[in-house]
Amino acid sequence: MTHQDGFETLAIHAGQEPDPVTGAVVPPIYQVSTYKQDGVGGLRGGYEYSRSANPTRTALEQCLAALEGAPRALAFASGMAAEDCLLRTVCSPGDRVLVPNDAYGGTYRLFARVFAGWGLTHDVVPISHVAAVREQLAVRKTTVVWAETPTNPLLGIADIRALAEAAHEAGALLVVDNTFASPYLQQPLALGADVVVHSTTKYLGGHSDVVGGALVVSDPELAERLAFTQNATGGVAGPFDSWLTLRGVKTLAARMDRHCRNAMRVAQMLAEHPAVSEVLYPGLPSHPGHKTAQEQMRAFGGIVSFRLLAGEEAAVRACGRTRLFTLGESLGGVESLIEHPARMTHASVTGSPLEVPSDLIRLSVGIEDCDDLLDDLREALTDG
Ligand SMILES: Cc1ncc(COP(=O)(O)O)c(C=O)c1O
Repeated sequence: MTHQDGFETLAIHAGQEPDPVTGAVVPPIYQVSTYKQDGVGGLRGGYEYSRSANPTRTALEQCLAALEGAPRALAFASGMAAEDCLLRTVCSPGDRVLVPNDAYGGTYRLFARVFAGWGLTHDVVPISHVAAVREQLAVRKTTVVWAETPTNPLLGIADIRALAEAAHEAGALLVVDNTFASPYLQQPLALGADVVVHSTTKYLGGHSDVVGGALVVSDPELAERLAFTQNATGGVAGPFDSWLTLRGVKTLAARMDRHCRNAMRVAQMLAEHPAVSEVLYPGLPSHPGHKTAQEQMRAFGGIVSFRLLAGEEAAVRACGRTRLFTLGESLGGVESLIEHPARMTHASVTGSPLEVPSDLIRLSVGIEDCDDLLDDLREALTDG
């Protein structure tokens, strides 16, 4: 019987055998563009040119594949480069995709401003309502159903298993952006998704020091097609970026446990706060996706969004008044961040069906002492 290593073990060891020459316990940074061949076509270990493959990137790709329970992963220069490679590979001009009514603004911009010009049509669907997705699938042939869960920034929950069934019955692929959950909290391929997308910039990297992306797939034939596009278009992760991401991945489980614990306490505090009109966190029993999240996630993640009774200007003011929560874009690092989505990460969706409320604040709850974080927020919400 083969022993299946646990998540934490895979994060530290998968793809990371000690270096065969020196015994180095961490994969070296192969900062190299080309490789000596033993005679024409005599490649050592399959390496010829670092756009096509690089050993540090290979180590990261093997580790990410193991963490998502897949045979293959591909690492990119950013999450957007990964999304671009995927869409060019599985879609053709004239195709139609369904995109969620809440998603990272840059993902919507890619559909609306880049692929629309290429001839790809998109329709926006409420991704938490499978019946509505099914209705849309019945209207016209669809190539891809795109989901985020939890969504950015409204923390909506999509039922991955039900969406996969609906997509497959209609002959479409289900793509799940697993950035907010990370593979530690949720494994979409096991629930029926065809492709997992990551911005590894976030929890996988975990230290706000590297930008990267990944695609993870179960179907080896699709993986080959994606690898062809990746090499042909060239948006690959560099060796140092791959190494930084791999270093972050080793502590993913420990960090996520702490992110989730802190975020739950922050959400509970905000839910009781008189200045707050609504808290969006799937860990709260009042959240409409709570039950589905409980079924498909190990815990509820480190992002908490909330709305202020006093409106947009009060939200903007609060974002500028924290001491520990740093005002900035991005999320998923060890340090807590605060932002105003309507004017920052989601400014590009203003006027679109994905426009976000102007009184919304998004927190990426870090792994600092939670009492300090709670004090910081209480202080920032005291207007005057
Ligand atoms: C959910 C989600 N997907 C994709 C991306 C894009 O990733 P990147 O910024 O690494 O290109 C982001 C970035 O914020 C994101 O939040």
